[in-house]
Amino acid sequence: MNLELTEEQVAVRDAARDFAQQTLKRSIIERDNEQRFATEEIKELGSLGFMGMMVEEQYGGSGMDTMSYVLAMEELSKVDASVSVCVSVNNSLVCYGLQEYGSEEQKQKYLRPLATGDKIGAFCLSEPEAGSDATSQATTAIDCGDHYLLNGTKNWITNGNSASTYLVIAQTDADKGHRGINALIVERDMPGFIIGAKEDKMGIRGSDTHTLMFQDVKVPKENRIGPDGFGFKLAMKTLSGGRIGIAAQALGIASGALELALAYSKEREAFGKPIHKHQAIAFKLADMATQIEAARLLVWKAAALKDAGEDYDLASSMAKLYASDVAMKQTVEAVQIHGGYGFVKEYHVERLMRDAKITQIYEGTSEVQKIVISRSILTD
Ligand code: CAA
Repeated sequence: MNLELTEEQVAVRDAARDFAQQTLKRSIIERDNEQRFATEEIKELGSLGFMGMMVEEQYGGSGMDTMSYVLAMEELSKVDASVSVCVSVNNSLVCYGLQEYGSEEQKQKYLRPLATGDKIGAFCLSEPEAGSDATSQATTAIDCGDHYLLNGTKNWITNGNSASTYLVIAQTDADKGHRGINALIVERDMPGFIIGAKEDKMGIRGSDTHTLMFQDVKVPKENRIGPDGFGFKLAMKTLSGGRIGIAAQALGIASGALELALAYSKEREAFGKPIHKHQAIAFKLADMATQIEAARLLVWKAAALKDAGEDYDLASSMAKLYASDVAMKQTVEAVQIHGGYGFVKEYHVERLMRDAKITQIYEGTSEVQKIVISRSILTD
């Protein structure tokens, strides 16, 4: 694996860093307090090309590689994981699913506005009783000839109320198990589609997480992605790439906390010297930096495999498992290094600590990643 970044990758990383540090940081505390979605900031990210980073230019995307995407995700997440999860779901789950498996008509109609950032997408798999056990879909899409009749409830949907295009996973033929599941493109204004309650969350409070209900929604047949029964494989493959994005998000949360802890440890004095001159703090910083670098290598490896067209399922699960644990552990350490200030919103580390937790849960819990990893290493 070549660890040297290209000029273009460095430019993308720097542009994301500038946007995060200059634009997102200004309003992040208020948006977190008020649980306010960053509508204007997301529009700006769209015009900068960050909403369809890996989408081909002919469909309105930026035509970049996965490595550029993880670099951008790390920088955005150092400041604002609520914005970066919106970016991640749009890029990795919705745009990827449409670009990879959509028909030409679906790409022209749905992918293009998502890639340019004119519209936002949501990925709807989780249900009240189907989270980790994703094959147990209770949402049904009954085949009615020229359309599917969609009924059910989806939970914890990122971009739930800000999206216009929803990829909905539903069961068409329960007897066929996962081979009876389809992925449908649902438009926000289709009759019977109801946007339910917004979740009041511990972290990523600026992200827009909702319950969605479908009551006899007529979804045209041409809105099914891929052949009949392909929906579960689409979800699994799409989530595998999505996990690289969430791993990069976790990495960014952790490295953002390290940057804050390093700066604070140089400013803050105790017992007659800056606190980083005390070994108790210096050793904490050394552990943080080492684990974060290890997480970065796993994230980059997964991105490099995807860019090389190699199998990345194992690498993406390993990256997400490890980076999310590092994010949780090291944000707690960053708060500790800040002492009482760490407990105060103005210093940003308490938000990073709250935001870190979800990276161990969404796009597959740590336990789901361990299922994927253990199955992979135990075959043959
Ligand atoms: N690529 C392609 N196909 C895959 C695949 C992959 N990565 N993983 C599994 N499959 C296929 C299998 O080959 C199998 O097909 P065949 O029978 O034809 O061979 C089929 O899918 C079923 O696979 P499994 O038997 O492995 O399925 P399982 O029921 O044992 O589940 C699991 C495995 C890994 C636990 C899976 O259910 C899973 O990933 N669950 C977690 C779901 C998840 O991540 N949810 C997050 C919600 S989305 C979200 O959080 C977005 C957001 O808003 C931020």
